[in-house]
Amino acid sequence: MKIVNKTVLTPQYLPETLIHREKEVELIKSYIYKFDKKELIPNIIIYGPTGSGKTSVIKYTMKNSDVKNLDMEYLNGRFYNTTYRILSKLTYEEDRLGLPMSYFIDKLRNRSKNLLIAIDEVDFIKDIDELLYLLSRLNDESNVYIAMILITNSIQLKSRLDIRTLSSLNEKEMFFSPYSADQLIDILEDRIKIAIEGEYDKAALSKIAAIAASESGDARYALKILMRALEIAENENANKFEELHVDKALESIEFDIVAETLKSLPINMQIVMYTIAKMYSTLPKDLFNSTINDLISISDVFNNYVKISENAFRRKAKSLKWFKHYLNELENLGLISTVVMKNKNREVISYIRLGVNHKDILKYFDKYYGIR
Ligand SMILES: Nc1ncnc2c1ncn2[C@@H]1O[C@H](COP(=O)(O)OP(=O)(O)OP(=O)(O)O)[C@@H](O)[C@H]1O
Ligand SMILES: [Mg+2]
Repeated sequence: MKIVNKTVLTPQYLPETLIHREKEVELIKSYIYKFDKKELIPNIIIYGPTGSGKTSVIKYTMKNSDVKNLDMEYLNGRFYNTTYRILSKLTYEEDRLGLPMSYFIDKLRNRSKNLLIAIDEVDFIKDIDELLYLLSRLNDESNVYIAMILITNSIQLKSRLDIRTLSSLNEKEMFFSPYSADQLIDILEDRIKIAIEGEYDKAALSKIAAIAASESGDARYALKILMRALEIAENENANKFEELHVDKALESIEFDIVAETLKSLPINMQIVMYTIAKMYSTLPKDLFNSTINDLISISDVFNNYVKISENAFRRKAKSLKWFKHYLNELENLGLISTVVMKNKNREVISYIRLGVNHKDILKYFDKYYGIR
């Protein structure tokens, strides 16, 4: 088995066909053509969870619509995150500095063609009320019209808007449902056929699809697992792409997430994580090799932390007060959880439970610090 086309596995790749989104594509196309014929259309809000194909559908539909009397612009609210930046982009004046807002408004009003604007990840725009109000009101005194397609994965979008904005918005809503496991299999199969040469086991695709379906039907996550698993299979010179490659991919993705998170922490917090992971690696195991009791007392962790910080990391350990502050932060990040329980002598003891695999943590320190 060999990867012959890696591009089609990357998140940026826009597929030739968007299976299971045909209805959505057709509906949006019908609005585009109506607008191209100078008929009025409502503004559209597209909702859907992450990886449900919103960005792909919009880009695909715009790319594949043949319009004559219409300009179309796509922009992402993550980058164009203020009304000012958006208007300067829509009037092609991004390079000129210091222009007043009224200049953009006049320029938009004096356009010769209708304009369809798709704004992706619209939640990131800081002054969204201002933008929507302004753009929807522009139509009142103009010969050409502006229509918007707003894309978001937050159902909350409308509740964030001002009543005044909402009433001038005149919107129609579309909901993209999460992909089911079966739909994800079709998407993966479409992709693997052009990505590789050689055989693949369909059970491997089913496995990826099942995992991604349980993670809110996210096609991006499914494709990420597929790409990683195919790379692993290729590196092993496997004849056939199989389930075991998917298992390995999942482990490696899990490790990446842990490593990313650890890397972003201040060093003292990292040392606390190392201490906990190290203690986990010595916990007693049962017959099935699972840990019998995965709670460790905070005072034990603190004592070990002091030793480890000074011996392995050659850093002066922080005080108990700081240590407790670190635990708090780590708990907020979901890396650990703490519980309070009474022991045999009825004393109240605080315990820690690790939220990620201790082996991934130890692997991180081995890899980046050479500490085992
Ligand atoms: N119907 C589909 N057919 C083929 N590939 C798809 C389909 N839907 C999504 N994908 C792929 O899944 C990935 C994620 O899709 P997309 O970026 O469109 O999701 P999104 O809904 O915009 O997610 P987010 O809310 O995170 O921005 C892309 O790589 C895209 O190519
Ligand atoms: Mg998107």
